[in-house]
Formats: sequence, structure tokens, C-alpha cells
Amino acid sequence: MATHMPLRLSIRTQDHEDPVTSVPPSTVMHGLTPPVTPTMGDISPSCGSETSISSRSSSFVSEDGSKPRDLYQKDLHPLRPLQYSDDLEYLYDPKGRPIEYGRGVWSVVHKASSRPSSKTPLMTPPSSPAAGGKLVAVKSPARRDAHAVLDAEALALTRLNKIRGADHHIVPFHGYIPGSHSIVMSAIPLSLSTYIEEKADIAQKHKTTRTMFDPVGGMAQWHGLAKKLITGLNWLHTEAQIIHGDIKPHNILLKSRPSNTDLECDGFPYEPIFADFSSAHNITGSSMSAEKATGTSLTALTPPFAAPELLSISSLTSPDSRPTTATEVFSLAVTLLAAATGDLLLYPGASNMQRLAMAREGHRVIEFARSGPNGSRVPRNGAVEQVVKPAILKDPSQRIRPDEWVELVNSLA
Ligand SMILES: Nc1ncnc2c1ncn2[C@@H]1O[C@H](COP(=O)(O)OP(=O)(O)OP(=O)(O)O)[C@@H](O)[C@H]1O
Ligand SMILES: [Mg+2]
Repeated sequence: MATHMPLRLSIRTQDHEDPVTSVPPSTVMHGLTPPVTPTMGDISPSCGSETSISSRSSSFVSEDGSKPRDLYQKDLHPLRPLQYSDDLEYLYDPKGRPIEYGRGVWSVVHKASSRPSSKTPLMTPPSSPAAGGKLVAVKSPARRDAHAVLDAEALALTRLNKIRGADHHIVPFHGYIPGSHSIVMSAIPLSLSTYIEEKADIAQKHKTTRTMFDPVGGMAQWHGLAKKLITGLNWLHTEAQIIHGDIKPHNILLKSRPSNTDLECDGFPYEPIFADFSSAHNITGSSMSAEKATGTSLTALTPPFAAPELLSISSLTSPDSRPTTATEVFSLAVTLLAAATGDLLLYPGASNMQRLAMAREGHRVIEFARSGPNGSRVPRNGAVEQVVKPAILKDPSQRIRPDEWVELVNSLA
């Protein structure tokens, strides 16, 4: 949907080498070329070599899993994304078309089967029986200028996946194929946006006065979802020291739980995890200055979910404007509001222009939601308001911090 397409905030060109994108080609190429040739944006013959675009780089744990380290110390500690070494086979529908899990501004995500490679005896052991292939999702660039974005995302995922707790909070990453700039992840075919739409649809068909004051998927489920996502955001900011950069229901995937953990399911029957780190950047001060020095700047934001301070004209045109911990708190709060009302557009009935204007007044989003058809699902002083309100304050410095937010959401019955 057009209103959910991220806007590119700023792109600078540079003529020196981008530390993130200079990934040496793999000597042994496994995996196949993606089934579609990603050439949409490849019009100018010079654009690939002269334009270097990178999402902001991140600080993570070092190779040995110890302290966070600045990516820009690459000369001291060369870093490359984890290479994907197994074999991949893309899967096709009965009409011979490659099966897509989804697509975004930068990329297309295909369904594929992964098998241990016969050529690499040193590969990591497969996590599934060797006989059957394991289903994976392969994210490949949909346009030439996405190559650098995916290179940087692969590096981010390489580091993030080494941090303790990663398996609970972010999409499992299996490796990177430099030749096609493809990222191989576990296949997680359900997104939070689809879940919200499905619950909204069911709620619409079975409207009852008994449930009209609850979130569309039920209060216990919403509360469980909120606890997990807020805990996940706190992990991203404190443990992983990363700003995701584009938090919205479409970039949150819902992992199924093994059926024997039902007792622990805490109201929400899935494990919500963050995906799409194409706009991620690090939090630590040292890297920030290094980023400034490199002149790389790129981020995407999606108007209804982006904090209002990022949507002002001056922000949209400034290369220094970027998501912060406070803007992420806002984005997750409105994501949770959408999960309560079932309205992914947040501002029902508005045109795109009106919606942008309302998003610029995002601190009033509860008020706007209340005047919409599902306003009853956000009762005054109810759990949804208590969780969302302190996270959407106009002044970013006044918004609740993720650690305080975890306490708040856990304190609600
Ligand atoms: N691991 C996965 N398993 C299944 N589907 C996935 C997976 N990762 C992504 N998808 C699907 O593909 C879509 C696009 O992926 P992603 O958001 O990472 O791409 P993008 O091009 O960076 O998107 P955006 O437009 O948000 O920047 C997702 O919204 C989701 O529906
Ligand atoms: Mg996305």
C-alpha cells in the first residue's frame, strides 16, 4: 500500500570507498541467482560505481562475542558478513513463477529450500534433517541502488545474531551471498500487519458489545504482544545498541511457537520478532561521528508509523535527521495502537495528504483513533491507553524510555 511505503530521507553520494559495501566476493559461490533479475533502478550505467548508499552502520559485539565495537574500526578488525555456504533452490508455484513471501521498497523476498552443500565440508551443521531441505526466505535487491543497503543489512544481521537473546527478538539470519547481494533467513511467513488485518476482519464480522472495548485480537493477546515487543525494543536499544529505523507492523514477523510451549505463551500465541534492518544504525556516540565523517546517510520511514519530529519539512530535507530511541518508542507505540484498533492506516477515512498531516500531529494519535470506527477499543485509562500514551508525547525527550516501558507494561494486570 502506497501509504506504507517508506520514504527515502536522504541519500548522499560519495567518491571514497564505503566501508560497509566493500565486501570481497566469495571464492566459493553457493546459492543461485535470484529468480528475477533485479535491475529496476539500473538505468544509468554509472550509478552503481559512483553512488554509494548505505544504511547507517551499527555497533555490535565483536567476533569473539565480547564488547560492542565500532564498525569503523574495520582497519583493525576487518569485518565481513557471515557467508552463506549451503545450497539454495528457489521454489516455484504451479505456473512456474517464483514464490514470493513479500517485497518492499528495496527488495523482494523469495521462498527457497536450503540444503547442506556437498562442496563445503567445513560448513556449519544444518539445523534440520539432512535429507529434507529447510525452508528459508531469501531477500534480494529489487533495484541496483539496493545492493549497498542489503550489504549493510547483512553485516548488521551478522553482528546482531551473535548477541545473547537474538533468537528471541530478531529474525534468524543464515548468511549472505555477496554475488547476488542476497540475505538468507529463516522463513517466517506471517507478519504482524497480516495478523492485524485478519483479526480486524474477524472482529468486523463478529461485532459484539462484549468485545467492542477490547483490542481486535483480544486483550490478553494484545497485552502479551505488547510485553514481547517492548521487551524486544529494550533489547535492541540496550543489549544490541541498535536503532531499527523503520518499526511498523510490516517489519515485525510472527514466529510460531512449538506446541509444547503453549503454557508459556503469555496471551499471545506467537513470538514477535523484528525484521528488515535495512534502515538500522548504531546508537553509540563514537560511530555517530564516524558516520558523519563518512558522509553516508540513508534511512527509510513510513509516515503513519514515523514519529512526528521526523516528518516535518525541515527533518525530511535534512541529512542529519534520523530515527532515535525516542522515535522508535513512538513507532512501536503506534504499532501497538494499530494492533488494538485493527486499523493499519491509523487515521481511518483520511486521504493520503490528510494522513500525512495527521501523522505530523502524531502525539494526538489516540484522539484521532478514538474518533474513528474502532475508537471504542481504546477506552479511557484502559490498558491500551496506559501503554501507548507515555510513548507518543510530542517532546521526544519526555517519552517513556524502553526500560521504564518494560516495567510499565509488565505492571499491568
Ligand atoms: N524471513 C522472512 N520470512 C518470510 N517473509 C519475509 C521474511 N522477511 C521478510 N519477509 C516479507 O517480505 C517483505 C519485505 O521484506 P523487508 O521488509 O525485509 O524488505 P524491504 O525491502 O527492506 O522493505 P521496506 O519497504 O519495509 O524497506 C516483508 O514485509 C515480509 O512480508
Ligand atoms: Mg520492510
